Parts: sequence; C-alpha cells; structure tokens
Amino acid sequence: MQAPITGKTKITGIFGYPVEHTLSPAMHNAAFKALGLDYCYVPFQVHPEYLRDAVRAIRSLNLCGINVTVPHKENVISLLDEIHEEASFVGAVNTIVNRHGKLIGYNTDGKGFIKMLAENRISSAGKNILIIGAGGASRSISYYLCQDSKTLQIYNRTRKRALKLVRDLQRICSNVSLCENISQIKDFHMIINATSLGLKNDDPSPFDTSLLKKNQIICDLIYKRTRLLKEASRKGCKVIDGSGMLLWQGMLAFELWTGKRPPAKVMRNALKSSIKK
Ligand code: ATR
Repeated sequence: MQAPITGKTKITGIFGYPVEHTLSPAMHNAAFKALGLDYCYVPFQVHPEYLRDAVRAIRSLNLCGINVTVPHKENVISLLDEIHEEASFVGAVNTIVNRHGKLIGYNTDGKGFIKMLAENRISSAGKNILIIGAGGASRSISYYLCQDSKTLQIYNRTRKRALKLVRDLQRICSNVSLCENISQIKDFHMIINATSLGLKNDDPSPFDTSLLKKNQIICDLIYKRTRLLKEASRKGCKVIDGSGMLLWQGMLAFELWTGKRPPAKVMRNALKSSIKK
C-alpha cells in the first residue's frame, strides 16, 4: 500500500511522453516507504509542446526532483539553471534536482552502469572494451569507461555519429578509437550493446554471436534477456542485462533528491516485480 500523503509530502516524479510504461514509480515509492520518508513519486505525461511549462512547474509547485525520459532528455537542458559535467558531455539529462528554486540537471546513467558492473564484481580497468551504438546511452557509459579501460572502441551503424563520439571522448581520454567493423569481436574482454536492437523480441543480435569466445563479458543496456544475451550465454560468456543499470541510475537519483542511502534490495525487488508485469 502507498504511504499516506501529508501536508509535508515532498513530490518527485518523471516527465515523459508516453510515460505509462515507466518502472520508476514502483521503485522509488517502495524505497520511500521502506525508509519512512514523506516523499512520493508520480508519473507526469508531458507533451513536448508543454515541456517548458512543466519545467517551470518544478519551481512553481516546489517539486523536489524529477526524472526525465524520452523524448525530453535533450530538450530539457536549455531550460535548466545548471548542468552537471556528465550530463553536459552526454547532451542529455535524466534527473533534475530542485535546490531552492535552482534546477540542476544530472545524468545518472553512466555512473549507474559502473555501479552495476562493480556489483557484478567486474572492473573495466585494464580491459579492451567495445561499445556498439553511439546514441545517448553509449555516450553516458563511454564517458566513464574510457577513464580506466585499457582501450575503448566505438562501433555504430552510422559511422559519422560514432566518429563524433570518438572525437569528443578523445578530448578526455587517449585510449579511444573508432571500430570500423565488428568481425574482430573475439579480441575484446567486454562488449556492450548500447543500440536499441533487442527492444523488440524479434530483433536480431547486433553482431554475429558465433564469433564470441567463452568468458567474454557481454552487456546489454536493454533491461530484458535479449537474443544477444541468450546466444552469448550459450557460448559460455558472462552476460549482464540492463536491469542493474536501470536500478542504479534510479538509486543515484534517489540519493540526489533525499540525501539518503537508497535501499538497494527494496528497489531491486520492486523493479523485478514491475518488469515481470
Ligand atoms: P539511446 O538514447 O537509447 O542511446 P538513441 O540516441 O536514439 O537512443 O541511439 C540509438 C542507437 O541505436 C544508435 O547508435 C543507433 O544507430 P544509428 O546512429 O545508426 O541510428 C542504434 N540503432 C538503432 N536501431 C538500430 C538498428 N536497427 N541496427 C543497428 N543500430 C541501431
């Protein structure tokens, strides 16, 4: 059951369009309840035409914090007062914190991915890593991965977009390069699918999985067990789906809003049961 709303309840939530599919309310409301915090998390369907109004409402209604999802993650940037370094590199915000009327934009995806790896006792340090995809998700994780991997290569269907990301990353790390073709898949310790291939059940794998070797680490940022993960698992690879990243990006947002350590187990269980539904 939902905790009761009081006169002091702090409001958080998510702006998206559509927003019905979001798993975040279940995760955050379970966490607020478990810690006895007088907060609640609400989905807000915000049509792109009203994004500016919705952001102004964060101040006028004194909302405490907001997650931002498709299609607003990029467009919201110009409407905020301050943008955190990672969000600025990614060009997308997924979390807004309202600090006494000042709206600060963060992107917790990349750090969420690193936390998820650590939880699986995986470090990117010293590894040769390939990321497939060069959109927002790829930008957020590559920003962190380039900082301690041995090498980081980016491959994308649209070469020009990958090249742009590689050039941006090369401003912060010298170990980043463009992957021109993915036939050398066996040379990487870790391969990450950051494309949207796999969202639909009949999507193919983003590369030929017969080339994989036992013990390679295969991550998919999509939060279900995709064809890629099933095939890689059959080849003896260690596979990780995107649900951990989803959990951790939420836990990091929770911490930004409440200043409290998020209850991992509670949030994971809430997420798991809403993924099943
Ligand atoms: P996100 O924010 O989730 O990263 P995005 O910015 O739209 O979403 O990026 C989607 C990524 O999936 C891109 O790398 C895209 O490749 P292109 O830059 O060539 O469009 C990739 N992608 C989407 N559909 C794909 C497909 N059918 N095959 C290969 N890559 C695909």
